[in-house]
Amino acid sequence: MKRRELSQKEGPGEETSGKGPKEDSRGVPHKSSKSRRRSKFLFYLKVIFASLVLVYISIPFVIRLFPALLGKVVYLNMVKFPLFVDLSNPGELINHTTNFYLTTEEGVTIGVWHTVPASRGEEARGRNQRWFEESLADANPIIIYLHGNGGTRALDHRVQLMKVLSKAGFHVLALDYRGFGDSTGVPSEAGVTHDAIFLYEWVKERSYRNPVCIWGHSLGTGIATNAAIKLQEKGNEPEAVILEAPYTNIRNAGAYHPFGKVCDYTIKFKKIYHSK
Ligand SMILES: *[C@@H]1O[C@H](CO)[C@@H](O)[C@H](O)[C@H]1NC(C)=O
Repeated sequence: MKRRELSQKEGPGEETSGKGPKEDSRGVPHKSSKSRRRSKFLFYLKVIFASLVLVYISIPFVIRLFPALLGKVVYLNMVKFPLFVDLSNPGELINHTTNFYLTTEEGVTIGVWHTVPASRGEEARGRNQRWFEESLADANPIIIYLHGNGGTRALDHRVQLMKVLSKAGFHVLALDYRGFGDSTGVPSEAGVTHDAIFLYEWVKERSYRNPVCIWGHSLGTGIATNAAIKLQEKGNEPEAVILEAPYTNIRNAGAYHPFGKVCDYTIKFKKIYHSK
């Protein structure tokens, strides 16, 4: 039905575009296969567009009905990209790196990669966990990398940054918060902050006088500032906090995110955030 309507609507436009009176006299329904194909294409395009609009409009309603979903959207920890990477074997993606696990609280074990400075790369070959742990006390500064939402510590842009920092002479420790990658548990603001603090304190116990910095990216900037405040309160603050692509608060981050923005145009996503 709808398709008919569509091709009829298409009709007059086609005629005026100069096919001449001959076609006109044959009547609208008899159209060339070319224009029929085109109206079919337009029809599908409209269906796809309408579906997308429907999805966009329904997202805020669905989130309002099931607020727990918002946490999942924020963390995206179930998105375990990249697929088919053995997180316990970082050597496939990055050199002079060891993988280990820390139990940050009962029932929560997090996976961590430790990349030593590239200057110690040769030396690191074939070394065990103990060597890596002791290497934290060498004269090189240390960066604890807190990644953003979605994916694991093996995600390409994260690995590339670890390589750059390693070449620049830093130790890099990158963790997957609880519920991310091969880490157990379920993410929560307090939980992921606790994981970051735990790793920091673990490093600090082994780093002698080396400076220890916290580098947060995207969602990780919130975790970095949370952790830094708590550590300062304990009198054990990091030497530096580096925020890459930070946000003021999660409501704004959601509302100004490219996905959130479209919803904002439709039914004021921000209002829904603020009403929570
Ligand atoms: C590890 O180092 C070797 C030698 O420098 C290099 O050829 C190789 O591509 C590196 N591997 C990774 C995963 O970066």
